[in-house]
Amino acid sequence: MLSIQGLDVSYGPVPAVKALSLQVDRGEIVSLIGANGAGKSTVLRSVCGLTPVSGGKIYLNQQNITGMATEKIAKLGLAMVPEGRRIFQQMTVEENLLLGTASWTTSKAAIQRNLCSVYHSFPRLAQRRRQIAGTLSGGEQQMLAIGRALMSVPHTILLDEPSMGLAPILVEEIFQLVKALGTGGLSVLLVEQNASMALSVSHRVYVLENGTCVMSGTPDKMIGNDALRAAYLGGGKHALNSP
Ligand SMILES: Nc1ncnc2c1ncn2[C@@H]1O[C@H](COP(=O)(O)OP(=O)(O)O)[C@@H](O)[C@H]1O
Ligand SMILES: [Mg+2]
Repeated sequence: MLSIQGLDVSYGPVPAVKALSLQVDRGEIVSLIGANGAGKSTVLRSVCGLTPVSGGKIYLNQQNITGMATEKIAKLGLAMVPEGRRIFQQMTVEENLLLGTASWTTSKAAIQRNLCSVYHSFPRLAQRRRQIAGTLSGGEQQMLAIGRALMSVPHTILLDEPSMGLAPILVEEIFQLVKALGTGGLSVLLVEQNASMALSVSHRVYVLENGTCVMSGTPDKMIGNDALRAAYLGGGKHALNSP
């Protein structure tokens, strides 16, 4: 579905991502984990054409999308839920969802169908469709941000730190939801600082350090690796979730 080959991204002279290769197959949940500043968001922004790449290639469904305009990439079936959710606080749940309607979806029937499908996946949003988004809980706002991305009916979705700022019980809920996206056939590239949660829902994981992939593999392999466990899964002095 999504294939990144030898990606280099720089901000001016400063490299942020170096020679990164990764792949997400259909229905697969793949996580990109790493500390703050490792380059995770840069990877996602490059995939959807928001940050220019300085080297490497990105393919979506075998089509080269490197350097393509964001809108065109979206039309090929890719959606992103950005860091920090960015929902419109003063608007209702449904108004926020409708903003996710793709520019190429013009028929009222199709828009209604997409809305129904999002409400079917997230009954909580259906119950709160007329509620002002700013009054939703953090978990519900994240749900809304994901629902809005689904309004364009993507086959591949990029999630940037969906658990950020959520209470532990809501984190659990959001990860269950991410898992359900994969089960529903979507390909998911998940960026997380919450490594243990990411591992629990992912088929494969890539670890990014200073823009370089230092390790990749199945969650089992990661958990079995002492150095990685110490650095990323709590306990070590570099534990990602330590304050
Ligand atoms: N717009 C930007 N301009 C300059 N440097 C940036 C910009 N965005 C991110 N960076 C730098 O690139 C590196 C990777 O950032 P980012 O991709 O946001 O990391 P992460 O999402 O893993 O926290 C960091 O050193 C960050 O300071
Ligand atoms: Mg980030």
